[in-house]
Amino acid sequence: MSSEARDRNRDAWNAERYDSWVKAIGTPEAEAKHLVANPRHVPRRLLPHLGDVAGKTICSVQGSHGRVAVALTLLGAEVTVIDFSEENRRYALELAQAARVSIDYRVGDSLEADKLGLTFDAVVMELGILHYHRDIARFFEVMRAITRPGGTMLINEFHPVQRKLFGTLEPRDYFNTALTEGDVPNPTGDGRTLGKCTLRFWTLGEIVTAVIGAGFRVERLDEHPDWTDAKIPGTFTLVARVPSGETS
Ligand SMILES: C[S@@+](CC[C@H](N)C(=O)[O-])C[C@H]1O[C@@H](n2cnc3c(N)ncnc32)[C@H](O)[C@@H]1O
Repeated sequence: MSSEARDRNRDAWNAERYDSWVKAIGTPEAEAKHLVANPRHVPRRLLPHLGDVAGKTICSVQGSHGRVAVALTLLGAEVTVIDFSEENRRYALELAQAARVSIDYRVGDSLEADKLGLTFDAVVMELGILHYHRDIARFFEVMRAITRPGGTMLINEFHPVQRKLFGTLEPRDYFNTALTEGDVPNPTGDGRTLGKCTLRFWTLGEIVTAVIGAGFRVERLDEHPDWTDAKIPGTFTLVARVPSGETS
């Protein structure tokens, strides 16, 4: 995104966000109890591809309220979140404190994650990440830079076929490359608009090509049925690795 579009998206992701999470998920103290009781539930779509996470360094890219990060930390990982929302950070840090674990939450643009000077055993992201980026090739170059040689990048994301052809996007054009304006997600269900985002929806081919172009080796691409219409793809999981022996 241009810096203007990024700032607009960031403002939208800060508007009433902490209160929205409390309303939708519960207080950090209440949600921490769920995570502690069953830390495998929230990251259940990621865990089958990560092996034993204990002792691993993991980056939760655009990790939002931090539920994935806190759950992975409870399972023994050392987790860093990169997300540009201060309000998300507030919820996530209170969640971690209530769960009696510690996470490293960096507020900033994920497109600049390579400037942190960190590399990770695994870089994970899920459900609502890629459409915030206008230069997807650059995005995956940055993800490649923060994944250590032999490390894994894991994306569980909404399927472009569902988003572009069966969702609320107009026009229904799989190959539409235009930027789109959309409401920032409001998890409370009260129907109010919390802010507008500038979005770019990618085809599956564009996503996979950008991952390969950044130097990853794609190991799996699984497509999953839509949660309400099992005849169409709703999400996908892409597992990619940085070949061992390559420098970051
Ligand atoms: C739909 S959420 C993804 C949340 C994910 N499903 C989870 O459970 O952790 C999108 C997240 O991306 C963040 N975001 C969007 N664009 C970003 C950017 N350029 N840099 C950093 N964070 C960004 C938002 O603040 C938000 O937390």
